Amino acid sequence: MRNNAKKIKIIRSPLALQKFSQKMLAQGKSIGLVPTMGALHKGHISLVKMSVKNNDITIASIFVNPTQFGANEDFAKYPRRLLTDAKLCSEAGADIVFAPQPKDMYPLPLQTFIHNPALETLYCGKYRPTHFAGVLSVVAKLFNIALPSRAYFGEKDFQQLHVIRKMAFDLNFPVKVIGAKTIREKSGLAMSSRNEYLSPKERAAASSIYAGLLEAKKRYAQGEFSVAKLKGIIKEKIERAGGKIQYVEIVDKRDLMPVASVSPKSVILLACHFGKTRLIDHLCLI
Ligand code: PAF
Repeated sequence: MRNNAKKIKIIRSPLALQKFSQKMLAQGKSIGLVPTMGALHKGHISLVKMSVKNNDITIASIFVNPTQFGANEDFAKYPRRLLTDAKLCSEAGADIVFAPQPKDMYPLPLQTFIHNPALETLYCGKYRPTHFAGVLSVVAKLFNIALPSRAYFGEKDFQQLHVIRKMAFDLNFPVKVIGAKTIREKSGLAMSSRNEYLSPKERAAASSIYAGLLEAKKRYAQGEFSVAKLKGIIKEKIERAGGKIQYVEIVDKRDLMPVASVSPKSVILLACHFGKTRLIDHLCLI
């Protein structure tokens, strides 16, 4: 039995973590990495628990990565609460919290970025043009620093998970990228650190996102294969609740390319705003 109450170690230096990981690998230990930006919720904790179950060592990284935020986005106000997060990681059985500062990760301005030109300008990338290059580059750095055998990401950020998997495959990172199911609040709202920006009224209204996705899935199961009609159902549900749609797309979950007609391989991706808060969600149609 694991002792879940053990004192967790917080490492801030990339070099110190890399040395620790090299030592663990030399001892034949497997390392699981859970990259996060902190403000941890049950979705993150489920990833930590999954890693603890399947690896000798679990590292949770907590780093609000400046390079993945656009100029007018929420980098400054993104919630930061390292000690609470470290306690949650410790209770979930993690061994290390890696919590660098921007100056530790970027001692000099980053000049080398990883891009996915096919996908970084689509869907979320259309509205956040520098986002995926920032994500891929920091995740590549985290892989090189923590040297994980397995890395865990939430399916909620479906496009993010896809581009990270593709990066690991294309660039031969020796790490298995594992996606974990979206954890939802009772209302159906996908858990996200950004949900705390929502007022109680907006939070209640945002349950229309999942309701819309479920309604579309039901209509698909009843024989509606038209992309336009299914997108319309979702838009109507969200807009009726006061949300503003940024995009709703139905794509093939294997390559994220838009589909002409919906099939069991399709996934619905969407982003919308409730008040000033941008929320994303997805639903696979099988
Ligand atoms: O999903 C997130 O929290 C971030 O995009 C990630 C993967 C930790 C990279 O900063």
